Amino acid sequence: MEAREAAWQVLPKHLAIIMDGNGRWAKERGLTRSQGHRAGAENVYPIVSECRRLGIAYLTLYAFSSENWQRPKPEIQVLFSLLSDFLRRFLPQLEQEQIRLHTLGDLTALPLTQQLALQHAMQVTAKNQAMTLNLAINYGGRMEIVNAVKSIMAQGLTADAVTEQVLAEHLYTKGQPDPDFLIRTSGEQRLSNYLLFQCAYSELYFTSAFWPDFDVAALHEALHEFARRQRRFGKIEDSKQAE
Ligand code: FPP
Repeated sequence: MEAREAAWQVLPKHLAIIMDGNGRWAKERGLTRSQGHRAGAENVYPIVSECRRLGIAYLTLYAFSSENWQRPKPEIQVLFSLLSDFLRRFLPQLEQEQIRLHTLGDLTALPLTQQLALQHAMQVTAKNQAMTLNLAINYGGRMEIVNAVKSIMAQGLTADAVTEQVLAEHLYTKGQPDPDFLIRTSGEQRLSNYLLFQCAYSELYFTSAFWPDFDVAALHEALHEFARRQRRFGKIEDSKQAE
């Protein structure tokens, strides 16, 4: 382990990332948006693998939001075809690195090819325990909460029985810790309907790097910032105790 890594002390248990800026990355280079998404897709596994190596237990990536259906059809097709390529290429590596694949979102609206590929990958990796990789696909945080409420009501629970814990158990992240760290690339500083319930207490980190440029060094920089924030928090607690 590098000396610098040892100094981190605190890693997030659950890291969530909004992979933003593929289009602007491409535009800056005179490339097409599809080429930007391809470059973005190439960046996914190196980040997954590094999180696994560091010991981050849960990683959630925003791959396709429920609002992304409003994009031109050819762009949507490129995104889904990149998802298929990703699953085909990296399923053996998920297996080798003992990473469990899980999805957040309504998969029923996806093309059948991608639905089947995702189901297959989830089945094959179901027992892996080193890390959980959540792919948020056709995901929207508000809809997730609405669906959780519907499901609770369908069970006939009384109002008194509905707690934060009960609601959390009806979300796609059921059984997982909340993200303690959220990274958004590309300079935008919004949540964009991502993990609205789960990110209530998350540390937020915004970087101007476009997603295809967010490499392992940039991830390390973000994680150092997370560790610094945790340490500051510790000091405040200590000084309060000393008063
Ligand atoms: C934002 O870029 C990114 C997305 C719409 C989705 C992220 C998709 C990938 C990284 C590729 C495929 C994913 C997997 C898991 C293989 P943008 O188009 O909004 O960029 P812009 O804001 O600069 O236009």
